Amino acid sequence: MYLIKSNGYNVEIGTKIFKSISSLITKNKYSSHFIICDENTFQFCLPSLIHKCPNLRDAHIIELESGEASKAINISTYVWETLIENKADKNAVIINLGGGVVSDLGGFCASIYKRGIDFINIPTTLLAMADASIGGKTGINLSVLKNALGTFSQPKGVFINPDYLNTLPEQHYKNGLAEIFKIALICDKNFWNELKNTVTKSSKELLLLKSVTLKNKIVLKDPFDNGNRKILNFGHTIGHAIESILLGTNNELLHGEAILIGMMVESHLSFQKKLLSKKELQEVFSLLKKVFEPQKINELNLTSIIELMKNDKKSQGNKFQFALIDKIGSCKFDVIISDSQIKKAIDFYNSTF
Ligand SMILES: NC(=O)c1ccc[n+]([C@@H]2O[C@H](COP(=O)([O-])OP(=O)(O)OC[C@H]3O[C@@H](n4cnc5c(N)ncnc54)[C@H](O)[C@@H]3O)[C@@H](O)[C@H]2O)c1
Repeated sequence: MYLIKSNGYNVEIGTKIFKSISSLITKNKYSSHFIICDENTFQFCLPSLIHKCPNLRDAHIIELESGEASKAINISTYVWETLIENKADKNAVIINLGGGVVSDLGGFCASIYKRGIDFINIPTTLLAMADASIGGKTGINLSVLKNALGTFSQPKGVFINPDYLNTLPEQHYKNGLAEIFKIALICDKNFWNELKNTVTKSSKELLLLKSVTLKNKIVLKDPFDNGNRKILNFGHTIGHAIESILLGTNNELLHGEAILIGMMVESHLSFQKKLLSKKELQEVFSLLKKVFEPQKINELNLTSIIELMKNDKKSQGNKFQFALIDKIGSCKFDVIISDSQIKKAIDFYNSTF
């Protein structure tokens, strides 16, 4: 069992998390318990949680449809109405049992309800374990605008059981792996080298320990995203735009898949800004292509990307600010980039197929 101290809460990693979850629930004497899950975590993860945490047997279960579409205002309203119908007071707790969709939405609903009630994250996807469940960002989408509504709100605890990954489909495993590669690229060259050599052989627990520790260090220093935390956005400015453009089309991408392409396009921006050498650019492209096998994106048209980026929280007016790696394992933020540089980077990405 590994324990990482975060912003007023602990992140526990290991297969024996259930005892700690039970103790936290008992210690806080919650008036009622609400478990948010989706149809997959209802089937694969809820039975063991209820079985191993007897004090959750009376919990109200809020089951959502799986997928990004649940990170929406109508679903939040459904959650709040369920809390009200079941007389949840200020001392109720929400337990988010699921991937990033469940923890983003559940954390958001908890942080708003009666000006904030406690919530606990039990992430069940690699992406949520390594990234989404820690750091205190909660949120939902507003039409196609990703995370347009959200809060900073810290969970009471994060409990990561790598055994939950046994039922996770391969595509979703790779989706989470993309964020793990990102954390290595922005802040730890040794970790990048480890991933290069041993990604398939590494123990999941150690992979998670390393990536959670690295993300935690960054968010602890900058809990409200005013400075260095912005480096976590590497790959996300272009990635979010791609994700939004393809949302609802036949070529819809998972978050991590879009971020992966974002990281490749943005690495070329780093190269154009003379932050990244040609050799390192090639190293980034060749490893990411080998592990993830991304596709050429024909819909990557500049006009729609720029339009979406104007709404991105990271842009100010017509200036596009990027977090860009300045070598493998190090990252700068607030780097100003022009439309034509973005076009060049997208053309380069597409030309490699
Ligand atoms: N708050 C943050 O800091 C942060 C960071 C990164 C990403 N995010 C958000 O996270 C979201 C993506 O999260 P995600 O990739 O976990 O998606 P997700 O929550 O949709 O889960 C992916 C799929 O896996 C299924 N699933 C979950 N656990 C399973 C299990 N153990 N076995 C079988 N199936 C399982 C789900 O039902 C779903 O179909 C995005 O909305 C993104 O914006 C948030």
